Amino acid sequence: MRSFQTERWAVDKKEQSLTTHPHVIQASLWIKKNEVIAIPTETVYGLAGNARSDEAISRIFEAKGRPSDNPLIVHISDRSQLEGLVSSIPAAAEKLMDTFWPGPLTIVLPKGEDVSEKVTAGLSTVAVRMPDHEIALAVIEASGVPLAAPSANLSGKPSPTTADHVYEDLKSRIPGIVDGGATGVGVESTVVECTNDLVTILRPGGITLEELEKVAGVGHVVVDPGLENEKHAPKSPGMKYTHYAPDAQFVLVDGSPEFLQGLVDKERAAGRKIGILTTEERMDSYKADCVIPAGKRANPETVAQHLYEALRAFNEAGVDQIFGEVFPKTGVGVAIMNRLEKSAGGNIIKE
Ligand code: TXA
Ligand code: MG
Repeated sequence: MRSFQTERWAVDKKEQSLTTHPHVIQASLWIKKNEVIAIPTETVYGLAGNARSDEAISRIFEAKGRPSDNPLIVHISDRSQLEGLVSSIPAAAEKLMDTFWPGPLTIVLPKGEDVSEKVTAGLSTVAVRMPDHEIALAVIEASGVPLAAPSANLSGKPSPTTADHVYEDLKSRIPGIVDGGATGVGVESTVVECTNDLVTILRPGGITLEELEKVAGVGHVVVDPGLENEKHAPKSPGMKYTHYAPDAQFVLVDGSPEFLQGLVDKERAAGRKIGILTTEERMDSYKADCVIPAGKRANPETVAQHLYEALRAFNEAGVDQIFGEVFPKTGVGVAIMNRLEKSAGGNIIKE
C-alpha cells in the first residue's frame, strides 16, 4: 500500500467564501489528481474521491479496507449535478430532496452513465445525498465533480466524528484530512429507496421515520424487513457487515441499572476489566473500571452525537468487556439502536 505523510487542514466553517479557502483548494487539488481525502459532513467524516474515476474509487476501498461489494454514497453540492449521475427521479424523490436537502438523507435512484461502476458495486442504482455542511459543500464545489464518500474509518470500526478519529484510523493511508471540528448529527444519514408511493428505509439514520412520514404520508414509509429479520437479506449491502465495533467484547443489556451492575460485578470478581456505556443521567449509579456516558437519555440526539466517540474511548481504556444500555426505538433512537446492535454483533442480555 502507498504511504503518505497525512496532513491536517483546519478550516473554520463559519468563514466567508470557503470555496477559495487555501485548505479547501488544497483538498480539491488532491481530488483532481484522483487521490482521496477526508472531509467533515454534518453526520460523520467522509473519505472523499471523484465519483467518476475508477482510480479514485479503488483508492477509497483500499484506504478503508472495505469489501468491494459494498457501494458508496455520492455527495453533491447542487441538484444540477444529478444530471448524468442518475437516469431518472421519481416525483416523490424530488419532494424528499425539497424537504431534506441539504441534510442527512441519502436517496437510492436509478444509476446514470456518468458514475464509476465501482461506486455502485455493479448495482443498477446509485445512492446520492447533499450534505448539510458548508465545508463539505465547498470541497465538492471546488473539485467540480460529485464526490463518492463512505465514512472515513477503517472498515468495521466506529465511524469518525472528529478529525482525530480519522487520523487514528487512516494516518499514512491518505494525503490529508480537512479538519472542520466535530460533526453534528453523529450517526450516518438515513438511506431510503423511493417509488412514487412508497419510501423504504434501508438504513435508519439522521432523518427519522416520523419526519419522512410528514412528507410521504403515514402508511407510505416502511422499514426494509432485512433490517429486523435475519430471514431477509438487507437491501442495502452495507447492512450485512459487522460494523462500528469497539476492540473489546460488547454486550447490550435490556434491563434495569441494578441488573446491569450485577452482570458487571460478576465479571469484575473474575478479574476482568469492565466498561459501561451509559448516559449522563445514570452514570453515577454504576461502579466499573470505566464508565462512559454518551449524551443525555432525555435528549437522544445528544446520544447519537457522542455514540461513536464513546465506543472509541473504550479502546483507549483497554477494557476486556463493555456492557451497554439500550434505548427506546423511536425517533433517532432507531438509528442509535441499529448501530449499537451492530457494534455488539447482536449480543443482547435481557433481564
Ligand atoms: O452520513 C453518511 O451517509 C456518511 C457521510 C460520509 O456521508 N456516509 C456513509 O457511507 O455512511 P457508508 O459507505 O459508510 O455507508 C453507505 C451505506 C452502506 O450501507 C451501503 O451499502 C449503502 O449506503 N448504499 C450505497 N449505495 C447503495 C445502493 N445503490 N443501494 C442500496 N444501498 C446502498
Ligand atoms: Mg460506514
